[in-house]
Amino acid sequence: MKIRGLSLPLISWRDWRQRVWHVIGGVSVRTKILGIVLAMVVFPGLMVTFQVRARLVYTLREQLRQRSISIARDVAARSADLVLINDLYALNRLLRDTQRNNPDVRYAFVLDPNGHVLAHTFTGGFPLDLLSVNSLPADAPHHVQALNTEEGLVWDTVVPVFGGKAGVARVGLSEQGLRRVVNSVTSQIVLSMLLISLVGIGAASILTWLLTRPIGELVAATARVGQGDYSPRVVRWADDEIGDLAEAFNTMVAQLAQAEAERAERERLRQFYLKRVIHAQEEERRRIARELHDETGQALASLMVGLRNVEEARTPEEMRHRLQDLRHVLAATLERVRRLAFDLRPPVLDDLGLVAALRRYAQQYQERFGITAEVQAVGLEDQRLAPEVETAVYRIVQEAMTNAAKYASCAHLSVLLQLHDRQLSVIVEDDGCGFDVERILGSEAGQTKLGLYGMQERAELIGGRLDIESQPGAGTAVYLRVPLRGQPGL
Ligand SMILES: Nc1ncnc2c1ncn2[C@@H]1O[C@H](COP(=O)(O)OP(=O)(O)O)[C@@H](O)[C@H]1O
Ligand SMILES: [Mg+2]
Repeated sequence: MKIRGLSLPLISWRDWRQRVWHVIGGVSVRTKILGIVLAMVVFPGLMVTFQVRARLVYTLREQLRQRSISIARDVAARSADLVLINDLYALNRLLRDTQRNNPDVRYAFVLDPNGHVLAHTFTGGFPLDLLSVNSLPADAPHHVQALNTEEGLVWDTVVPVFGGKAGVARVGLSEQGLRRVVNSVTSQIVLSMLLISLVGIGAASILTWLLTRPIGELVAATARVGQGDYSPRVVRWADDEIGDLAEAFNTMVAQLAQAEAERAERERLRQFYLKRVIHAQEEERRRIARELHDETGQALASLMVGLRNVEEARTPEEMRHRLQDLRHVLAATLERVRRLAFDLRPPVLDDLGLVAALRRYAQQYQERFGITAEVQAVGLEDQRLAPEVETAVYRIVQEAMTNAAKYASCAHLSVLLQLHDRQLSVIVEDDGCGFDVERILGSEAGQTKLGLYGMQERAELIGGRLDIESQPGAGTAVYLRVPLRGQPGL
């Protein structure tokens, strides 16, 4: 853009705002507040000073001019007779008295009609170049001219004596006095401004201290929290917004600390149970290995021996007898291998589904432990659920039933499965001795409660919820609820 030959770089209003904000935003709060206070004091102060000075100079200068005229008139009036009778001594005295009575009078002198100096107040000789300035225009009652001298402005007034017939009187009034007054007033204003500035800076410093101290504390505390130290708390210094912020900060840190503690506790438990689960898995493998080795291996070895014995049998009678023994051993071994396989994973669970598998398990359970166990299913007789749901529910019921057999000393146990409104609920109830659920679950992690946690974990894994209701002496009920919405298989 060209404006009258001037090329200006175009900077938009937004750029300006951004630049200004960049500068203002870049300095600390302390500097901002101090800057505002100083600007509020210094700018009006300077304006007042300049205005008062200008007004004062204008008024005093006008007064000086008027006084210069009236003194010159007075001198002219009083010197008329003296000039006419040529009393130069009295004339000189008149001029000196005039100067003495008016400290602003720099000089006074009287000229005769020919322009010769009759009397003057200069002590070191009359400066002749004064004669060439300020002359009286014809018929004017007076004429004032400002002379620029080394000592500053001098208001020079020329007044005719006796209508001009006896020459002229001239008086010069110096502005030095005026300057002194103006300077002293100015310095007083500046001094007051400085005092006000000092008070302002003091007040601003206290204010910034009050404002920034809690903020500084908050910043330091936040940095520590950021590094994972949840111990710092800040003091609520005042009942204002910053106080509210401090309180909110403290609440936040307390909650963070609590959440962190809970997370750490969960992590600790997870680690603990992970170790236990791995250990349990290893135990299970060891058990299976031992069973395979001790029972099945032994049985197979004795079958081998038995076969050799059959070979070595001398009579058909003896051979039949030995073969019969072998069949018994083989049947027992087969049963053991089946049970082992069933314990690992019942094939019926995959083939016939949850209810059938649980019925089969309850039957074996009843035989093994002598506890009457019945399984009731409502709404899911032929229904297959998602494989992971079937497995989880099967294991949970199995654990609940094993616990009842191990700890409850009960006579009767019932399993109720119900599918209603796309929610599967399972209740395993025994009439045994019961136990204090809170106490067992809340006790130290060293105690055995892996089975209960395992049930809970399995339930959560399939999006379900497990609750145990039990009281010593009043039996135990394990409730499992699994919402099946969106589950494949339904
Ligand atoms: N049906 C029940 N009747 C009585 N006590 C029970 C029953 N189920 C669990 N418990 C108690 O809860 C404890 C924890 O059970 P669990 O976590 O399954 O441990 P475990 O691995 O020993 O089976 C058991 O030691 C027992 O005291
Ligand atoms: Mg158990």
